[in-house]
Amino acid sequence: MALRSRGTQLVSNLLSRHAGWALCSSRGMAGHDLHAAFTPLQQQFIDREEQFGAHNYHPLPVVLNRGKGVFMWDVDGKRYFDFLSGYSAVNQGHCHPKIIDAMIQQAQKLTLTSRAFFNDALGEYEEYITKLFGYDKVLPMNTGVEGGETAIKLARRWGYDVKGVPKYEAKILFARNNFWGRTTSAVSSSTDPESYEGFGPFMPGFEIIPYNDVGALQQKLEEDPNIVAFMVEPIQGEAGVVVPQDGYLKQCQQLLHKHKALLIADEVQTGLCRTGKMLCSEWDGVKPDITILGKALSGGTMPVSAVLADNEVMLTIGRGQHGSTYGGNPVAARVAIASLQVLIDEKCAENAERLGPIFRQHIMDIGSPLIQTVRGRGLLNAIVVDPEAKVEAMDICLKLAQEGLLTKPTHRNIIRLAPPLIISEQQLDEAVGIIKKVFASL
Ligand SMILES: Cc1ncc(COP(=O)(O)O)c(C=O)c1O
Repeated sequence: MALRSRGTQLVSNLLSRHAGWALCSSRGMAGHDLHAAFTPLQQQFIDREEQFGAHNYHPLPVVLNRGKGVFMWDVDGKRYFDFLSGYSAVNQGHCHPKIIDAMIQQAQKLTLTSRAFFNDALGEYEEYITKLFGYDKVLPMNTGVEGGETAIKLARRWGYDVKGVPKYEAKILFARNNFWGRTTSAVSSSTDPESYEGFGPFMPGFEIIPYNDVGALQQKLEEDPNIVAFMVEPIQGEAGVVVPQDGYLKQCQQLLHKHKALLIADEVQTGLCRTGKMLCSEWDGVKPDITILGKALSGGTMPVSAVLADNEVMLTIGRGQHGSTYGGNPVAARVAIASLQVLIDEKCAENAERLGPIFRQHIMDIGSPLIQTVRGRGLLNAIVVDPEAKVEAMDICLKLAQEGLLTKPTHRNIIRLAPPLIISEQQLDEAVGIIKKVFASL
């Protein structure tokens, strides 16, 4: 198929799947012009991705080329509020000058040594991050999913060396509807067919329990002495911003410790001020045995992840037993320090904690029958659209985009709302105005 027509096909497929949008546009209702959000210039970019890139994502039809603070601009110069923040990677706002400066300074000096040699940036970062989070050691990786993989290796190794689990019989528990990435291990623990279907055989030694169910954890731990860890998101992000009952993590950790097993907190999405605390686990007064960080650890500039643990766990992996060519590279080290410092200096946790309840109240005040509920903590929020409604979350996201606010649905009826944490109350009010206008038009 010709390049251009393939791209056009992509968009018309998207639109025909979301009939509300197509209907509204074709009738020219409320002055919405479908192609306003998808100009010929943008179409060229989309066509090219469609032809030469794998089809493993379904993006909204908007082509961006600039970001600053809470805003992004498309190639036609239209401005949008960013209410996805790169799935919570851009907590500090787009192209934060202090983070970009740290990146440029280090990139002009030395970018990669590999861990075959020492460099003068990594130790400073290791000291900074471990003191900040109160752990003995950090293991630097790149992506969030590598952080999860690392945590699993640490837990297994700890299980054999410290707990005394018979060789290769260690089990790790995960919560139903978890999401921690796309590797074969991550999809082996997934309960979402879209993630795992067709990718087996799956990793053994993983078991699923319901989320937010302390009793289920207790039962498993009592049944099986080979359980070495429970890896869990303090709030389930991709599942649709599912907030567990207060004290859930605390109760989990108490039970796990009673049965000599570890709590692994996947804070890749919930961490780094997103929920109104530096770590979401703090809401429960918990210091997990292993904490995984990623995403905003680089403020949206490059893949930087980290696994934090104390010596009893971290030192079970010896020299030469785990690593990554780029993990802990000097640019990542400097960028991570700058990213963490910006979060602290700009009081991002305080801002998220203060604005979160205001935002949720404003959304509820819209009073749309389509809004079943709004839930979240800090500035990690989601609108749950009435599942009986004809309009789907994707339809609403397309309309929001047209009105100048970008976000993506998760599942058919959930709209994630997670702006950069540097957003002001005035900007938030403006964004709420857009959301209100869109709901009023539906
Ligand atoms: C909770 C959680 N863990 C891990 C990951 C994986 O991170 P990455 O995409 O950087 O591998 C994600 C990604 O969305 C996530 O939300």
